[in-house]
Amino acid sequence: MSDDPLLEVENLTVQYKTKEGMLTAVSDASFAVSEGEYFGVVGESGCGKSTLLLSILNALDSNGQVTNGVIRYKGEEIQDLSEQELNQRIRWKEIAYIPQGSMNSLDPLERISTQAVQLAGLHSDLNEEEALTKFEEMFEIVGIDPERIHDYPHQFSGGMKQRAIIALALFLEPSLIIADEPTTALDVIMQDQIFKHIDDIVDRVGTSIMLITHDIAVVFESCDRMAVMHGGQIAEVGPVTRIDNEPHHPYSTLLQEAFPDIREPNRDLSVIEGKPPRQIGETDYCTFVDRCPWATEECREAPPPLERAEADRSDHFVSCFRKDDVREENEQGTDDRKAPNQKSGSLANDE
Ligand SMILES: Nc1ncnc2c1ncn2[C@@H]1O[C@H](COP(=O)(O)OP(=O)(O)OP(=O)(O)O)[C@@H](O)[C@H]1O
Ligand code: SF4
Ligand SMILES: [Mg+2]
Repeated sequence: MSDDPLLEVENLTVQYKTKEGMLTAVSDASFAVSEGEYFGVVGESGCGKSTLLLSILNALDSNGQVTNGVIRYKGEEIQDLSEQELNQRIRWKEIAYIPQGSMNSLDPLERISTQAVQLAGLHSDLNEEEALTKFEEMFEIVGIDPERIHDYPHQFSGGMKQRAIIALALFLEPSLIIADEPTTALDVIMQDQIFKHIDDIVDRVGTSIMLITHDIAVVFESCDRMAVMHGGQIAEVGPVTRIDNEPHHPYSTLLQEAFPDIREPNRDLSVIEGKPPRQIGETDYCTFVDRCPWATEECREAPPPLERAEADRSDHFVSCFRKDDVREENEQGTDDRKAPNQKSGSLANDE
């Protein structure tokens, strides 16, 4: 993994036009993904994860728009590129996107090989023969017999379809694959297999991966760095080992406690009660305020800036006015502190 930023997102705000007004789905988000990095994005349902990823490729629903911020890919600002430029230069061959619920995104009427050849025709200079040879290699990487590239999607199981989609994403050798919940709808064994293939791809192919998942254990086990989102804001971003062992943001602290630690499988799960707000208009406060055991009046008056977790850390950022207090309490141990709105169970608003 290199430290060169491949993707840089700065102060990104994304809004959807709705009947009630402009809904802010992502507010002032900043993070960077380096070359060869495996980057996880976690946060409960509706916190803006898909919106964040969709905005990178300008693939938002038609009522959605980036209202502020910069998206830089390999140093070039891409947020204002035209559809044509994005298609010709960026999509698939630089950044491939595996959408949420993508298992059914394969065309049922076309052989998978035909779909690969079409993709190559649109986004690369490969001729048909080269494309097919290359696609066979990709099938091998995702663990499907290369001869099966000519099958139709219905001849595949759910897990195989998902792997075929990953093969398509890999096919034109993008530098970054963005995968939105690539294992939902699969059984646990198949989920494990898919994540193993993704691990393998990071190791063997060296592609950077940005992964959204509800499975925080996968992020803690496999990713290099992660972003934790809440209510459209990036709560914390940094190396996984730091956020796992020393979370500084109240939400990541509670989230970390809510999931069973692989080293402590019998620990009670916790619930974070309440719902993130549906934000109409600009977000001018901390969206965690109504659920946060550390909240003060200040948290309602302005959004907390995303700042270095500690003065000497250039790789770990937190947006919380009380990050130092939270860290100190975490260092003292969590036994003395029980959030008023915490109880045993599972994550309230997750699937
Ligand atoms: N096309 C749209 N029009 C209006 N609001 C939208 C649209 N798409 C998403 N939203 C809203 O934007 C917010 C963020 O949605 P998003 O899909 O990005 O969340 P998410 O974190 O990906 O959730 P999940 O984990 O359920 O996939 C939510 O409040 C959602 O209802
Ligand atoms: S800024 Fe305030 S409400 Fe938000 S997480 Fe920090 S302490 Fe809690
Ligand atoms: Mg989503």
